[in-house]
Amino acid sequence: MPAISFQTVSKTYPTPQGLFRALDNVSLDIQEGEFFGLLGPNGAGKTTLISILAGLARASSGRVLVQGCDVQTDYAAARRKLGVVPQELVFDPFFNVREALRFQSGYFGVTHNGDWIDELLHSLGLADKANANMRQLSGGMKRRVLVAQALVHKPPIIVLDEPTAGVDVELRQTLWHFIARLNKEGHTVLLTTHYLEEAEALCGRIAMLKRGRVVALDATSELLKAASGNVLVFKTDSPLPPAIAAQARVTGRVVQLATQETQDIEQYLTALRQAQVDVQDIEIRRADLEDVFLSVMAKASAEDTP
Ligand SMILES: Nc1ncnc2c1ncn2[C@@H]1O[C@H](COP(=O)(O)OP(=O)(O)OP(=O)(O)O)[C@@H](O)[C@H]1O
Ligand SMILES: [Mg+2]
Repeated sequence: MPAISFQTVSKTYPTPQGLFRALDNVSLDIQEGEFFGLLGPNGAGKTTLISILAGLARASSGRVLVQGCDVQTDYAAARRKLGVVPQELVFDPFFNVREALRFQSGYFGVTHNGDWIDELLHSLGLADKANANMRQLSGGMKRRVLVAQALVHKPPIIVLDEPTAGVDVELRQTLWHFIARLNKEGHTVLLTTHYLEEAEALCGRIAMLKRGRVVALDATSELLKAASGNVLVFKTDSPLPPAIAAQARVTGRVVQLATQETQDIEQYLTALRQAQVDVQDIEIRRADLEDVFLSVMAKASAEDTP
């Protein structure tokens, strides 16, 4: 039995322009013990899918099972199996950190979990904030509390919606260390993130969503194989010739050109020299998940256009 099963899930929202389809027949199964990544650009439908999973929104059609429990007809059982870290920072300003965790435990009917709460506080670098009021915490600290809150009942399935947005490098490492440990101990993890190097390092399998549709679903290693080529990276202040500009990913002065064969690199360099583009700080790197992501998204756009 899969840990999570999304079965032809669609979601439409009424808007002044008519019905907007945020999710379009999403089907995918996440197996017990997987570390699964859900990637997609802003507005792709990731949070909508997680909200339906967590019972915070209703699917317009299709259904979602959590270890066999339907999130609509068997809400309480499904919800107990999930620890959800929401994307939005929502918290009760009147509690201190430890009270917030106790309160959340009570919500799930869990008592005598003081040791686990201490371990959560310690593992998430919150030990010295246990008695601080939620109002006094910085944004990154609040996010740590959200993670701790999601885990108070030791759920078998951990769902993280952008848990590292606005979080400093040190906590990101602490957090991933902790979540990876829980995953090793058997917890299933579903993660959305815009940090693709995190997804590449952590996730065994990845689904990519675009405009509510699954446009890629495979083992991370398979997705990376598809991007077997190299990327030519350089800086320039010159305008690029149109033929190269059409292929390039430009960020300020930095230009990146994907290549499959070594001779592609030579051809690019020759063309740049002929166009008298001043090329600085040349570097060649292996294609990574970000390159795969961009090419999958570009391909999905091309297929969208009639
Ligand atoms: N309550 C709502 N009413 C109308 N449209 C909505 C509502 N909630 C979400 N949407 C729309 O559904 C689409 C998907 O939103 P969603 O929040 O799921 O995206 P996301 O993939 O999580 O994006 P991000 O990476 O920015 O978090 C967006 O176009 C959004 O505007
Ligand atoms: Mg989101």
